[in-house]
Amino acid sequence: MSNTWSPDSWRTKAKNQMPDYPNPVLLEEVEQKLAQYPQLIFAGEARKLKHKLAAVSRGQTFLLQGGDCAESFSDFRVNTIRDTFRILLQMAVVLTFAEKREVVKVGRVAGQFAKPRSNCVETRNGVSLPTYRGDIVNGHAFHPQDRVPDPERMIQAYLQSASTLNLLRAYAHGGYADLNRVHEWNLDFVRRSAASSRYEEVAGRLSEVLSFMSAMGIRGDSTPQINGIEFYTSHEALLLPYEQALTRRDDDDRGTGEWYDGSAHLVWIGDRTRNLDGAHVEFARGIQNPIGLKCGPSMDADELIRLIDVLNPTNEAGRLTLITRFGHEKVEKGLAPLLRKVKSEAKNVVWCCDPMHGNTVTTSSGQKTRPFDHILKEVKSFQEVHRAEGTYAGGVHLELTGRDVIECVGGDQKITDDHLVSEMYQTLCDPRLNASQALELAFQLCSHQTV
Ligand code: PEP
Ligand code: CO
Repeated sequence: MSNTWSPDSWRTKAKNQMPDYPNPVLLEEVEQKLAQYPQLIFAGEARKLKHKLAAVSRGQTFLLQGGDCAESFSDFRVNTIRDTFRILLQMAVVLTFAEKREVVKVGRVAGQFAKPRSNCVETRNGVSLPTYRGDIVNGHAFHPQDRVPDPERMIQAYLQSASTLNLLRAYAHGGYADLNRVHEWNLDFVRRSAASSRYEEVAGRLSEVLSFMSAMGIRGDSTPQINGIEFYTSHEALLLPYEQALTRRDDDDRGTGEWYDGSAHLVWIGDRTRNLDGAHVEFARGIQNPIGLKCGPSMDADELIRLIDVLNPTNEAGRLTLITRFGHEKVEKGLAPLLRKVKSEAKNVVWCCDPMHGNTVTTSSGQKTRPFDHILKEVKSFQEVHRAEGTYAGGVHLELTGRDVIECVGGDQKITDDHLVSEMYQTLCDPRLNASQALELAFQLCSHQTV
């Protein structure tokens, strides 16, 4: 790999999982337009998240990352964004209260549009069309014209991301995330679940603590951690023309001159695009944002070290989060060799468990689902393997929604395969935990069962 990097040096490398746009002139016009639009996040914010992740890598705090598998243009509404934000808040409260550690909150949101796919074509009743690659690339409907990659979708994705982020910033700092409102986050259908009653108990105890602190003069006006939260965004940096267009040099008055991808605070490299000499690794190595790297069962320990050396040559803590996604049956055997190797080479990383992508199954009626028990088993095994190896199980990465969908089977609601054939099965891509299942999982993650 040559050492000279530029925001477009990925173009000379193998471009896996990226669309072939039939109209390159239009593609270039869109890229130029996007390159002039404001970036969505600033270098200083990305650096702040890197500092936070450095604390996770030292075992001091915990990372909670979650959101949709794929955001969509049609489901773009305030309630969807609010509900995802709210369930992450609820989970963070549960985890902070039980573990007595700060939880770093990162959404798969405000840019999580592009999807890697196992097959290039989809066939239905003998008709084959290009596969759906996320709303930022083509349409979900099974019609030839919808499936043609359209560069102008990048503009719409950018505008939706900007608007989503604007709302998230308002929620995070405008009063909604005030800890004194901890009861209000437990609304609607979640209230009917067992996890919800446990949450009410935590919220009650937290309210007491807050009243006590308030009596001592510790309130939101003097302690910003009480009346707001820090919330960060992330997505897979898959569609590189989009990522490149939003990559800017940090060169304002006090800037460092380094390059940052302004599309999200953290971006990750997917399990299908992490080849050492491919375009995605090339792009990611030159931006200074915190980076995620998905590690599936085919990741070999030596290959991982080579990737770490390319992506984090200075061994900076907080720069690299390894998101493991083995599946509940493979995690025990697969994870330990990676942990040992990374530990023996003294590499600073955050270890984060994605218990979703290795646990997808298809029902007899053809729907993709994930059994809650398998998700839970993978996270538990992840924690146990870390304990045995003396490393730190630093976080979880989940596909979830704050809405009342029926996509993953199991959990307290005892969802079965039959329930999936319903209009409440709504995902455009992978099955997500619904709000009750996500809250239930948060309680299960706690190592101290004090709540
Ligand atoms: C994803 O996170 O949506 C994804 C596609 O994951 P992976 O790269 O691990 O398969
Ligand atoms: Co997914």
